[in-house]
Amino acid sequence: MSEDIIPNTNIGVVGHVDHGKTTLVNTLTGVWTDRHSEEMKRGISIRLGYADAVFYRCRKCRGPEGLTTTPECTRCESETEPFRAVSFVDAPGHETLMATMLSGSALMDGAMLVISAADRCPQPQTKEHLMALELVGIKKIVIVQNKIDVVSHKEAIRNYEEIKAFVKGTIAENAPIIPVSAQKNINIWALIQALDEIIPEPSRHPEADPVMLIARSFDVNRPGCSWKDVKGGVVGGSLIRGLVEDGAEVEIRPGIQNLIENKTKWEPIITKVTEIHKGQKKVHVATPGGLLAIGTKLDPAITKSDMLAGQVLGHVGKLPPVWEKMWFSVKLMERVVGSNSEVTIEPLKQREPLMLSVGTAVTVGVVSNTRKDAAEVILKRPVCASIGSPIAISRQVGGRWRLIGMGTLIE
Ligand code: GTP
Repeated sequence: MSEDIIPNTNIGVVGHVDHGKTTLVNTLTGVWTDRHSEEMKRGISIRLGYADAVFYRCRKCRGPEGLTTTPECTRCESETEPFRAVSFVDAPGHETLMATMLSGSALMDGAMLVISAADRCPQPQTKEHLMALELVGIKKIVIVQNKIDVVSHKEAIRNYEEIKAFVKGTIAENAPIIPVSAQKNINIWALIQALDEIIPEPSRHPEADPVMLIARSFDVNRPGCSWKDVKGGVVGGSLIRGLVEDGAEVEIRPGIQNLIENKTKWEPIITKVTEIHKGQKKVHVATPGGLLAIGTKLDPAITKSDMLAGQVLGHVGKLPPVWEKMWFSVKLMERVVGSNSEVTIEPLKQREPLMLSVGTAVTVGVVSNTRKDAAEVILKRPVCASIGSPIAISRQVGGRWRLIGMGTLIE
């Protein structure tokens, strides 16, 4: 990672299971995001993975063929100069892990939709992920036609035509389709060029009160380390606006659940920032965009195993409200996508359970009231969000949570 350039944009990596998302992130960043033993065992990405890449331009090669993610030109081995850094958010492709994909989509400024040239298009989660991008409003999309090393020229063209027909009329209709082999490092320069062009750094609001969406949280201590060396809990995610300074006192909401007079109550956590890492670099001030990790004075037992994923960090007293019950507008799709049988979507019913994704939070709730194009839900786990936040709505269909529509937090 180049010393001077800090990631400023988050690029989501979505697509059907096994189409090569994690391999592509590895080719672009040198990092395997499937870091959990359970993921290794099952061979699928369970949690959100993230990794940073620097884009370099070769000093000698002319044109886009000289674009690379390594400090040495992959074509002529000459020196390169860095010009941009981005963070990749690797979402799982397995159908049971749609909730994780949705929580990741809250962080994405744009996305790569990875489609294997070796399969017919669309596969169920290719459809479901594109639908999610559409619902969440992620318009800056680059389609990556992966695994071109295992198909003939003719098959690649047929697959390209299938992709074109599939995206017609969708948010990705005009997205470029870049043929690559993530495994054999073919055409990666063309992908870098497309990402740089299609997903520029979005405009941010560094002057606003900070809001960091937490996507992961960790205990970074090795088992058995001495108490003197124990490090405080770490949270990872992205600042969507504002700045967070090293040493600042911060609040995390909804916080932790406490039992007070036989009633469970969620109480915000107040802690201090002890270090900030962005793009593998220690920084004094976290700026919006790109993924970051914040070290705190928290007991690591509170942050281990993603326990704070879905929560929001900001300055004390300056965070959006916490909702245990909320009304939101409802816009349902016509059919459930992502399964082999595409069922018609019925209106929401009283007392039905729903899974809602708000920011990086994924929570289950029960419909307590409905009116035209709106519903009220009592949540099992409260969420911290501003009025107007987008909400992805999923319902149980055939024993699985399926994305059925989108809403906006009203009250
Ligand atoms: P999930 O995270 O579980 O959704 O899967 P994924 O989309 O991240 O796929 P992953 O990167 O794990 O790749 C799946 C398989 O495809 C692995 O065996 C890879 O080695 C293989 N693969 C990935 N990219 C390529 C490619 O460009 N060419 C070939 N031949 N194989 C590839």
